[in-house]
Amino acid sequence: MTISGLGYFALDTAESQKWHELLSDVLGMAAEAADGVTFYRLDEWHHRIAVYDAEVESVRAVGWQLEDESSLDEMAESIRRYGVHVEPLSDALCAERKVTAGHHFIDPVSEMPTEIFYGPVYEQLPFTPSRGISGYWTGEDGLGHVVYFVADYQRAKDFYTNTMGFRTSDRIVWDDGEKDATFFHCNPRHHSLAVMPPFGDIPPGTFNHLMLQGRSINDVGIAYDRVRDRGIPVMMDLGKHTNDLTESFYLVTPSGFGLEFGCNSTRVGENWQVKTYDAPMIWGHRSP
Ligand SMILES: [Fe+2]
Repeated sequence: MTISGLGYFALDTAESQKWHELLSDVLGMAAEAADGVTFYRLDEWHHRIAVYDAEVESVRAVGWQLEDESSLDEMAESIRRYGVHVEPLSDALCAERKVTAGHHFIDPVSEMPTEIFYGPVYEQLPFTPSRGISGYWTGEDGLGHVVYFVADYQRAKDFYTNTMGFRTSDRIVWDDGEKDATFFHCNPRHHSLAVMPPFGDIPPGTFNHLMLQGRSINDVGIAYDRVRDRGIPVMMDLGKHTNDLTESFYLVTPSGFGLEFGCNSTRVGENWQVKTYDAPMIWGHRSP
C-alpha cells in the first residue's frame, strides 16, 4: 500500500484577505466562503486548499490521498506500527474536508499536522479557472508537492519510504554540501514530497514550500507578472529545475512560507533511475 498523491492543503492564517487575493485574483481559483474558512477550488474536486481564519500562521493539514478504504486502513496501521498516534477524522471533519473517511496524525519527522484519507467529493460541473489561468495539472499526479525542513534526515527517508510507501526520485547536493534535498514520488509526478536538513538559522520542522502546477508557461508568466504588479514578495525568480525540469518561480505567501508555481514538470515512468544532481536549477531561480 502506498500514498496515491497529495490531496489537499489546509492552513491557519491571520491574513485571509491576502490569501484570497493570491489564490483567487492572482491564481484564478474559485472561492467558497463558509464560517471561518474559505475553500478554494482549482480542479474537479470541491476544494483542494482551505484557508482558516486564525491568529497565527500555521499549516493545519497536509492531506495525503489513499486509493480506497482498505489502503487507508492499512496505511493507518502502518503508521501506528511506527509508534505514531493515529486518530480517525470525525464525520463532521470528513464532511468539511469533503472526503469519505480519513485519519489525523502528527508526522513524526516533519512535525506537520497530517491527514490520510480516501474518496474526495467531485463536483458535477467541470472547472475552468479565471483570470486567464488555463488550468491546474492535478489528476493522478495529485495537487502538487510539499517540501519540509527536517531535523533527522535519515529518519525522514526511512519513514516516508518504508512506512508511507514513497519511492525516492533523486537527490540534489549543492553549495559545497551545505544544502541537500531528497525527493520522493508516489505517482507519476516527479515528487510529491521533498525533505531537506535545515541550514542557516532555519528551525527544523519548518514548512518550506507548496508547489502548484499550471498547464502552460503562459499560466506561470501571467501569474508572475501579476505577482510583480501587486508587489507580492518573490522568493526566487523564474527558473528551471535540474531534476524535475519544472519552469517556475517562488513567491512568499502571506503566511511566510513559499509557494512555487510552475509548469512542464517531468514525470517518472517505469524505468526511473535515481540520480544525484549538483545544483537545483539549470538557469534562473535567483534571489530577487
Ligand atoms: Fe518545489
